[in-house]
Amino acid sequence: MAKLSSVILGALLLLLVAQCATAARWTSPVRGGCLRRGTRRWTATLVDFGPDGLGLCRRTYANIGGQRFNGANECRQAGRGIIGTFYVNDRTCTRFTDQEAEAVVPVTEEMVTVIEEVVAVTEEVAPVFAPHWGRFHRDGCLRKKRGYRRWTARLLDVGSGNWNATCLRTPATIRRQKFAHPAHCRKNRKGHVIGVFYVRDRTCRRVSDLQEALELEMETVHFEEAALNLQEALAFEVESALEVEDAVNVDENEDVNVEFEAVDVEAEALG
Ligand SMILES: *[C@@H]1O[C@H](CO)[C@@H](O)[C@H](O)[C@H]1NC(C)=O
Repeated sequence: MAKLSSVILGALLLLLVAQCATAARWTSPVRGGCLRRGTRRWTATLVDFGPDGLGLCRRTYANIGGQRFNGANECRQAGRGIIGTFYVNDRTCTRFTDQEAEAVVPVTEEMVTVIEEVVAVTEEVAPVFAPHWGRFHRDGCLRKKRGYRRWTARLLDVGSGNWNATCLRTPATIRRQKFAHPAHCRKNRKGHVIGVFYVRDRTCRRVSDLQEALELEMETVHFEEAALNLQEALAFEVESALEVEDAVNVDENEDVNVEFEAVDVEAEALG
């Protein structure tokens, strides 16, 4: 009897050791942007996983900011690694749109209860929709402004406010050119709100002189290249700045327990 129980104990210990040796766990948690009101995206890297990495990603326990997860909400393969995405309740996510979500909103004491109520309500209801552009239509070249083409798009989820003001605040990117807002807005016959954009386009020229056309082309090609390089450099700067900001925020929030516990569910069940 004693022998049998020691054999069982030994087998259990072996199993535990084997479990610990291969236990998948999470490392390198990264705080991402807000997904919607009240929810922030975090990502983490799964390590020590066996052949069924993607399956383990969905089953491996994590604790982020005191919130328990029995696995990631989303999993994807990144090279040989596996990245899990978690949807974490976060009341500093108070804004509607992705662009606005990155702006830090100071939360005062009075706001907290209000926000908690709103979060409690909106979690069950469908996400709040921000105004956004439908398909962009390429129109004709501008007669008065050489090198520019007119593009239009319908504004969707306009909301109940002043449609013209809403439209004139909605940014767009057309052909890699960024616009803070349309040049102007109008309503069409069906009552849809239409934004009108003037987009730089070197196929738009009315030059009879061939020499001038060639020179113009040389100029615009180089100008566009330079502009694109500058744009990319700026985007990189902004990204780095956001990363630094995120890192600082994580440090500041240390007392809120952003520590990542990496415990395998199975190992925990055994222990
Ligand atoms: C929309 O607002 C702008 C700026 O206030 C104004 O110039 C424009 O005439 C308005 N357009 C319409 C269609 O009301």
